[in-house]
Amino acid sequence: MKGIILAGGAGSRLYPLTSVVTKQLQPIYDKPMIYYPLSLLMMCGVREVLIITTEFDRPFFENLLGSGARFGVDIQFKTQAEPKGIAEAYLIGEDFLQGQDSLMVLGDNLFHGDFKPFRAAVDQQRAKKGGLKAQVFAYPVNDPERYGVVEFDKKTKEVKSIVEKPKSPQSNYAIPGLYLMDGSAASRVKAQKPSRRGELEITDLIQSYLDEGSLRVEVISRGMAWLDTGTPQSLLEASSYIAALEQRQGFKVACLEEIALRMNFINTQQLSAVIEETPNSPYKDYLKVILKEYEEE
Ligand code: TTP
Repeated sequence: MKGIILAGGAGSRLYPLTSVVTKQLQPIYDKPMIYYPLSLLMMCGVREVLIITTEFDRPFFENLLGSGARFGVDIQFKTQAEPKGIAEAYLIGEDFLQGQDSLMVLGDNLFHGDFKPFRAAVDQQRAKKGGLKAQVFAYPVNDPERYGVVEFDKKTKEVKSIVEKPKSPQSNYAIPGLYLMDGSAASRVKAQKPSRRGELEITDLIQSYLDEGSLRVEVISRGMAWLDTGTPQSLLEASSYIAALEQRQGFKVACLEEIALRMNFINTQQLSAVIEETPNSPYKDYLKVILKEYEEE
């Protein structure tokens, strides 16, 4: 299972913040935004990750994450010339994917909670039982018109279609930016035409699986937080959410070195070496505490 983080885009709703720093490197409380989607991939056991950014922003992501060795992950980078749609990621990532299954997460999507449903979906995707080829999730929101929305058949309650930003949504179930696809995703996108707004739509790709009966849509419970970070207000709220959790629990959300240790991507010696080269900071102090506790467990 390979991982993709799509972290390009215009970020126009965050202008002028995004005129110097791209959206996915903006702070969510104490970490750059991209830490959160990367932590999700890692917690789903994904260790090969492609990050797709703009040409301009690529060096900043490379400086931040490097080869990924610090987190026991192999990170590669590619660029998207223009934001021509989320589904284009599968074309840009075709060589990286080499026809394998993938878990793609949008770089500005923040999930928090029990990731068991996501892990179970990854396992199911690996098993590919019953002709299953792709999986997406459905999450209740009060502003579905901003997202890809799941339309259900009134009688059977089965998923009928996936509609991108409908004017009058038929349900309030939005599709979060987390997509499990099989190795045919790239060839399917090649057969797609850009939509009226000129983008290769992820909803069209999802619909192609739905049409042939190989898509699974899983409703995520309200217990999971799916936060948007695309506007100044939602960026502030996401930071407040993480701050409240971290201050209450004393644990960090999306501390990549900690996750790497707990997932056995790195061992305690490797974490010690990482701590050595970490600048003196509260973050370094936190890593020291985690290492000590882990060794005592
Ligand atoms: P959006 O939030 O739809 O767009 P945006 O990030 O450009 O922001 P704005 O609407 O304020 O201009 O994008 C969702 C995510 O997908 C975000 O992480 C950017 C990414 N993306 C790309 O990397 N390339 C694309 O072609 C598109 C459409 C989105």
